[in-house]
Amino acid sequence: MSVNKDLKLSAILIRWYNEHKRNLPWRNTSDPYLIWLSEVILQQTRVEQGYSYFNKLVKTFPTVDLLADAEEDDVLKLWEGLGYYSRARNLHAAAKTITNEYAGIFPRHYKDVLRLKGIGEYTAAAIVSFAYNQPYAVVDGNVYRVLSRVFAIEEPIDSSGGKKVFAQLAQLLLDESNPGLHNQAIMEFGALQCVPVSPKCDSCPAQDMCAAYSRNEINLFPKKAGKQKSRNRYFHYLDIRDGDYMFLHKRTQKDIWQNLYELPLIETTSEMPVEELSRTDDFRNMFTNSKILRLKYVKEVKHVLSHQVIYAAFYQVDVSGMEPKGCIKIKIEDVDLYPVSRLVHKYLEIR
Ligand code: ADE
Ligand code: SF4
Repeated sequence: MSVNKDLKLSAILIRWYNEHKRNLPWRNTSDPYLIWLSEVILQQTRVEQGYSYFNKLVKTFPTVDLLADAEEDDVLKLWEGLGYYSRARNLHAAAKTITNEYAGIFPRHYKDVLRLKGIGEYTAAAIVSFAYNQPYAVVDGNVYRVLSRVFAIEEPIDSSGGKKVFAQLAQLLLDESNPGLHNQAIMEFGALQCVPVSPKCDSCPAQDMCAAYSRNEINLFPKKAGKQKSRNRYFHYLDIRDGDYMFLHKRTQKDIWQNLYELPLIETTSEMPVEELSRTDDFRNMFTNSKILRLKYVKEVKHVLSHQVIYAAFYQVDVSGMEPKGCIKIKIEDVDLYPVSRLVHKYLEIR
């Protein structure tokens, strides 16, 4: 089966690149060893900071054999200040592998490159495409951003499904007659034009084909699932009635529903039956000096928000002599004057 390649984006990016690219030292070589050094540095370091370290490393260890023969201490010393020191240790270990197993000649096959310590899919694709012009598409943060915007891709970049989608699309869009140039171009485009905040859409040569731009949604891409797991919360709402009066609490804390009103609330960290709830300090403190005439379960509601699930139980509590501590005392008939959450509103409707 053959897949139809659409090289329009690639052509735009390469034309843009030829005009706007930065002149960086590792771009003037096809030596895989030097390209490898630069990519390992740039894995976690900005270009401006990486510069001087790259030059120092190349000067001290101009060949992979010299790096392999060095003392680890000397390699680490050169790396000092750059952080993520496992990069230096892996670099040194991989240099020894290349010297011992490949006679000092950098491997050509993607699979062999990928097996070297400290080299993942991105770095392997970068090395074989830049050094040997092999058709492996790079996928880094720049590529995620550019592709997610141009094609309005909904899949989160931090999900395994999303990673597959982007890897396939990046490969499909790769200009196989020019993989090295294409890869450099899309990364540089992400680094300089389609930047994370305030991308330069006004001067963008891909604007016509950019789905996020045409929908005015550039800030919604790339999508992230986020680590945030949904949190369960347990709310016990007390609909306290004292003659013609009831009580409301204003949510002032920095939390959901800030500045809205609600029924007096006791929150617990787990499910709690009302017998147990009524023995808690929170519950007792709410009713000091007042007399509970009746406590009646009304209903339970599961309320789903974007990052939390609220299990709310509603109780009607008939009292006499209630002191409104932390609450306001209102006429029951006035309750509709107060802004409340949808959860509480639904309860008040049926009450
Ligand atoms: N970031 C990662 N690889 C890069 C490269 N080859 N040029 C510029 N920035 C990069
Ligand atoms: Fe990126 Fe804007 Fe260009 Fe779209 S139009 S590719 S968002 S710079």
